[in-house]
Amino acid sequence: MAEPNRRSAAVPNDLEAFWVPFTPNRAFKRAPRLIVRAKDMHYYTPEGRAVLDGTAGLWCTNAGHNRDPIVAAIQHQAAELDYAPAFQFAHPKSFELASRIAALAPADLDRVFFCNSGSEAVDTALKIALAYHNVRGQASRTRLIGRERGYHGVGFGGISVGGIVGNRKHFGTLLAGVDHLPATYNREHQAFTKGEPEWGAHLADDLERIVALHDASTIAAVIVEPMAGSTGVLPPPKGYLERLRAICDRHGILLIFDEVITGFGRLGYAFAAERYGVTPDMITFAKGITSGAVPMGGVIAREGIYDAFMRGPEHVAELFHGYTYSAHPLACAAGLATLDLYRDEKLFERAKALEPHFADAAMSLKSVPGVLDIRTVGLTAGIDLASRPDAFGKRAYEAMERGFHDEGVMIRITGETLALTPPLIVSEAQIGEIFEKVGRVIKAVT
Ligand SMILES: Cc1ncc(COP(=O)(O)O)c(C=O)c1O
Repeated sequence: MAEPNRRSAAVPNDLEAFWVPFTPNRAFKRAPRLIVRAKDMHYYTPEGRAVLDGTAGLWCTNAGHNRDPIVAAIQHQAAELDYAPAFQFAHPKSFELASRIAALAPADLDRVFFCNSGSEAVDTALKIALAYHNVRGQASRTRLIGRERGYHGVGFGGISVGGIVGNRKHFGTLLAGVDHLPATYNREHQAFTKGEPEWGAHLADDLERIVALHDASTIAAVIVEPMAGSTGVLPPPKGYLERLRAICDRHGILLIFDEVITGFGRLGYAFAAERYGVTPDMITFAKGITSGAVPMGGVIAREGIYDAFMRGPEHVAELFHGYTYSAHPLACAAGLATLDLYRDEKLFERAKALEPHFADAAMSLKSVPGVLDIRTVGLTAGIDLASRPDAFGKRAYEAMERGFHDEGVMIRITGETLALTPPLIVSEAQIGEIFEKVGRVIKAVT
């Protein structure tokens, strides 16, 4: 034991060892953005400077930061049961949390499979879709359909059905047999729309073209984000999701909603499926289930999907899939405390009530020079900036840097888009503060 201690004391705490994910490491290590503490709507830097959280971390701290009941639940759980095997054994809170999630999900989406992230949730849902058709004697249904500009995490399944070129181009041939729907965004027809754009429902009909090309008997599932978040806040056109559902039904194709961002209140409802009145066959979730406090993700499947697997000898697992940390006790404790907070503080309803105010505040930046489009839905806004001729994404990157260092606001960026997605506890005054700061930042980088 003495050796590691002596070693850690001797090693300087420099920034080199940590390979920071999805981050330009050289630039970051020259001017790091460090955070040491958080409470409610704010982060705090090592110098004690407050930074207003305009992004709910990475779209995950929906109940705000370091909420006392969640902290207490994690502490209590750590002292009582640190871990129980996830296979062949279980602990009671996993069943309790699954029941609570099933109760929030629409219709007969009543069976919950736990994992630890959105990426794992997506891979799990894709594997369940393939296996579902297989156990029902339709093993030829192997194709998976995603969408251009879709983000489904970073597993090989997720990047294969995803539609972000940077996430795909360096990683070989990906999964075979994947096709993509067109993205739903068109600035010419949709610019500066609050909520769901009128134009674009017909883009769902492209699924018929894909079915005609491959034949329905080869297609297992379609996966889309109801609102594409990570490529810049793209709300679905009115009627689009309904059309996708109808086409999937016509051809026996499973429809998966990736609700890793939209789940747990982001659009004013427990799930976007409820907002849009469209019931998918599976929902993936992560992030907001624990308000970001402990990693957790999962898949909610319709009862009929689960039932299809319940066959064969009873001593044999029905689905050969799972993770060592599926339904980890700390995550389940955090999840239960988080769901209590959402319910007791009516945070989903709060997001819904604040939506018009949030949209107006975002649109107040419409005439700021350099702003090309603003989109809003729920407590989410995307602001597209004009690129510098020689450097796509640099203006947004500088906006994020300035936001953090000069204005004390956390902004998320993707390409040349600023995304604002605060915790659902945000006040009207703080919404005003976020967009005032963002407006000053945009002016400074234009
Ligand atoms: C829609 C969607 N799916 C999947 C993921 C991946 O989640 P994770 O980073 O937890 O793997 C994300 C992350 O932002 C997401 O937005």
